[in-house]
Amino acid sequence: MNVLVIGSGGREHALCWALGKSSQIGTLFCAPGNGGIAEFAQCISLNTDDSDTVIEFCNSNDISFVVVGPEAPLVAGLVDDLTAAGIAAFGPRKSAAALEGSKGFMKDLCRDYNIPTATYERFSDAGKAKEYLKTQSTPIVIKADGIAAGKGVIIAQSMADAEKAVDEILGGMFGNAGAEIVIEEFMQGEEASFFVLTDGTHILPLATAQDHKRVGDGDTGPNTGGMGAYSPAPVMTDEMVELTLERIIRPTVKAMAEQGCPYTGVLYAGLMITAEGPKLIEYNVRFGDPEAQVLMARLKSDLLPALLATTNGQLSDITLDWADDVAMVVVMAANGYPSSYKKNTEIKGLDKAATHDDVYVLHAGTKRDGEKILATGGRVLGITSLGSTVTDAAGKAYAAIKDIEWPDGFCRSDIGWRAIEREKQK
Ligand code: AMP
Ligand code: GLY
Repeated sequence: MNVLVIGSGGREHALCWALGKSSQIGTLFCAPGNGGIAEFAQCISLNTDDSDTVIEFCNSNDISFVVVGPEAPLVAGLVDDLTAAGIAAFGPRKSAAALEGSKGFMKDLCRDYNIPTATYERFSDAGKAKEYLKTQSTPIVIKADGIAAGKGVIIAQSMADAEKAVDEILGGMFGNAGAEIVIEEFMQGEEASFFVLTDGTHILPLATAQDHKRVGDGDTGPNTGGMGAYSPAPVMTDEMVELTLERIIRPTVKAMAEQGCPYTGVLYAGLMITAEGPKLIEYNVRFGDPEAQVLMARLKSDLLPALLATTNGQLSDITLDWADDVAMVVVMAANGYPSSYKKNTEIKGLDKAATHDDVYVLHAGTKRDGEKILATGGRVLGITSLGSTVTDAAGKAYAAIKDIEWPDGFCRSDIGWRAIEREKQK
């Protein structure tokens, strides 16, 4: 079967890596892909904002399955259009992608179905938002309703900062994504990422992961898309997984079906593990990036039949096997990220790094230029490793990174620190 993956990040490299190993794969295409994906898939430049272009490409290349990586095309309705054209597509339809596309929609669903999350209110008027703030305490969280490339969340430590955030977001800081805001309670606890596949009825839990969102060591500095991750997440004990399924995931899948927008695809719950148990921070309607890298490193089963069954309503036939090993990914980003950074700087030493045992060099923002690999994005590489413990996996990833010559890039030096501390105490 010929398959098209949409996207260009580390997540898509991980998905292509797994799909490329499938016994059912014919030609694997990726639009637009990156320098790493180009090693084993046909990378093509397609205007993926235009569904007709994608449909035409699928028809002329005998592509019968499309896997949509990022949220934007899902929220824009690409899966609806492909499905209407008779092409199976992995991911939720537009109405269900609202779980990520509108924080207000997600919060209202939680309120209506008693799903544990931070208490909140929605506003489009700055005056009313500020009146509400007077009844709250700090820290407090202000969020743009729509998709803002992972930047639409402000955690205000003072009321003055909270009022400023209200003015800035409603004033257009994130464009139309901030035409409405959600103000919510700040939750205390440890974060975890939890993933399930669902065909709208059946739910298949995937592995757990933890990512590091802040740019700096010790989880300091501004938020990023994610600077590294590991799987499994020690905080997600069997009991915590069951509580998450019972209180959050199953009620959500049922609610979406009842609302007339059944959810199919991968559902990614960003969780806060609080003293009262798991609470939902947010839903994403796609695999996490860089969490997909560690999930795919641990996945032993064929991914393609699982994604097809998710799309075709046959997920109850699928079981997935995971390696017992711990997987880690350390993200290498361009100097300056998440603010401005240089593009087209050369990276050397990738082949040598890839010779390390249990290490996989996944690309996120790169392109090939003849023999050279150039950095084209903020997050550029994901050095992924498998080990017996988080400490072991970290040792392998960081040893491989020493072989990468890229003066214009950096990585955090402490990915997995929380789990490594726990391992030391054992
Ligand atoms: P999001 O883009 O919604 O994942 O938010 C980005 C990050 O902000 C999350 O990973 C959390 O670290 C933090 N965050 C968001 N909402 C809350 C909340 N209600 N309480 C505490 N932290 C939050
Ligand atoms: N790693 C966070 C995300 O994919 O949203």
